[in-house]
Amino acid sequence: MFVPMIDLVGEYKKLQKQIQDALEKVFESGRFILGSNVEALEAEISLYIKTKFAVGVASGTDALHLALIAAGVGKGDEVITTPFTFVATTEAISHIGAQPVFVDIDPKTYNLNPSLISKKISKRTKAILPVHLYGQSADMDLILQIAQENGLRVIEDCAQAFGSEYKEKRVGSLGDIGCFSFFPSKNLGCYGDGGMIVTNDEEFFHKVKKLRAHGSEKKYLHSVLGFNSRLDEIQAAILRVKLKDADNCRKLRIKNAAEYTKLLKDKVVTPYKEDFALHVYNQYTIRVKNRSAIQEGLKSKGVASAIHYPLSLHQQEVYHYLNYTDQDLPQSTAAGKEVLSLPIFPTMTSEQIAYVCQCLEEFI
Ligand SMILES: Cc1ncc(COP(=O)(O)O)c(C=O)c1O
Repeated sequence: MFVPMIDLVGEYKKLQKQIQDALEKVFESGRFILGSNVEALEAEISLYIKTKFAVGVASGTDALHLALIAAGVGKGDEVITTPFTFVATTEAISHIGAQPVFVDIDPKTYNLNPSLISKKISKRTKAILPVHLYGQSADMDLILQIAQENGLRVIEDCAQAFGSEYKEKRVGSLGDIGCFSFFPSKNLGCYGDGGMIVTNDEEFFHKVKKLRAHGSEKKYLHSVLGFNSRLDEIQAAILRVKLKDADNCRKLRIKNAAEYTKLLKDKVVTPYKEDFALHVYNQYTIRVKNRSAIQEGLKSKGVASAIHYPLSLHQQEVYHYLNYTDQDLPQSTAAGKEVLSLPIFPTMTSEQIAYVCQCLEEFI
């Protein structure tokens, strides 16, 4: 049996007719940039996340970049974040001349450990940037409390967590600004690059709207230095179809994760779900000691797997200049050696899950 990490073609086939119809309408409209689909998607996403505003942008990376600028973070400022994430999280910080300040993770959830944040706050700290890793919310009450006490902005990296909840509130609606990615493998993914910023703050909304379109909300009037970072009509039309199926896909991912956990719980470290979280399993990530051998073994049986992430960001060459040691961030360093993501996607069958577990057992 062959089990891929994800099955984007299978998901497409399920919605083929609706997607083709939506695309046809875009092609026939002759409107490809900032048209009715982007506007409608923004309204639908803000309704779904329960924020007042949403702004479509070109990617999740751009969502973070523009959100940081809108929040007033700039040159010389510090942003507290996790080292155990995809590099895009900190790229956004570094590109505006600010500095990421790494706080270690909780070894059970792999999310930012809020109890370690306070001692990293300095006069230069401007914001906290938690990442809802693998689809599970960070511990937001504590993060928001620390931010409030210290006058800091909170920007949520929700790239892996569309539809995820913290105490029954959707991620993205908890901090000052939420940033989503529609990269194809995300829980709500398009067929190219795309992203979205959500917020309840009208001032941030207008700033981001300007920033994504060359610093302009009115054609040929440019009040700030902006970017070309627009979500396009084709991606928005696809996303509007997929959004209608997003809760169904979320349910299927949660069901698949439960099946995995039932079969694996006494054999490996399975994902830990906090009581406050509705985990949406963008990744189903286990923890094992002999990872290379297991990965090779799975591959020989036709089972894909992936490592999110083999190196903590403080270990990446691009961040060597920050001078962190592994001892400074022991939990993320250790996790990087042991985490292994197994295939998980909405159209995955129980037979595929059982096969992955059976193969895994052979190589543990
Ligand atoms: C945690 C995290 N942040 C940010 C991003 C960047 O999103 P994008 O690929 O849409 O730029 C990703 C996705 O790749 C991600 O996983």
